Amino acid sequence: MRKPIIAGNWKMYKTLKEAVDFVNEVKTQVPTNEKVDAVVCSPALFLPTLVEATKGTDLAIGAQNMHYETEGAFTGEVSPVQLADIGVSYVVIGHSERREYFNETDESVNAKAHAAFAHHLKPIICVGETLEEREAGQTVSKVASQVKAAMKDLTAEQATQSVVAYEPIWAIGTGKTATAADANEVCGEVRKAIAEVFSEEVAEQTRIQYGGSVKPANVEELLSMEHIDGALVGGASLEAASYLKLLEAGANA
Ligand code: 13P
Repeated sequence: MRKPIIAGNWKMYKTLKEAVDFVNEVKTQVPTNEKVDAVVCSPALFLPTLVEATKGTDLAIGAQNMHYETEGAFTGEVSPVQLADIGVSYVVIGHSERREYFNETDESVNAKAHAAFAHHLKPIICVGETLEEREAGQTVSKVASQVKAAMKDLTAEQATQSVVAYEPIWAIGTGKTATAADANEVCGEVRKAIAEVFSEEVAEQTRIQYGGSVKPANVEELLSMEHIDGALVGGASLEAASYLKLLEAGANA
């Protein structure tokens, strides 16, 4: 039985005060982490404050990106050592916005996955196809190749601790959600790719999220699907009330 994981990805939204007010409201109402893993991935600037504010609660804090090197002359970057040092638990890697606007490649995503595990951070590895790829019938080959590249040379144990987020690019921030059946089918293909690289047993344990216009109104149906173990949520994670509804759906899934 895979525990559901609901992660908010705030992207480049919120001021410090808004971020703190959000976690202070959510942390007292978050369902027990025996039922659901609740994560908020905030802008790097707020991470130390949010980690402090959520200490001892069932709300975990994640970063949205990091460099794969432990340190160095990389102006503007944040290292895995720095994230681990302040107590961050998760890190999103390979988000489609980073692949598209910041030259993130399958190789850098793989390097980041290794760096995350080296520093006890749990990676949320994002994969997904463009609309053109979907229309050309390339969804499965694209997503499977991204999964295999991102998880290259991880150990089986690390693979089971990875979270893979399937986010069709055409569904991000557009209000267009993949149907639950379509999302489940591709998440099933992600699981198949993991089984090919590692084993059926590993693939059965690895959690796979769907992301792309997830909201309280559609989350239950998505989470009821066999291969969908959680959600990575942008817009609908920005308001505490909406995020709490997503968590509740996760706890009841
Ligand atoms: P939306 O939920 O706003 O579509 O964003 C999805 C996403 O990119 C989460 O990482």
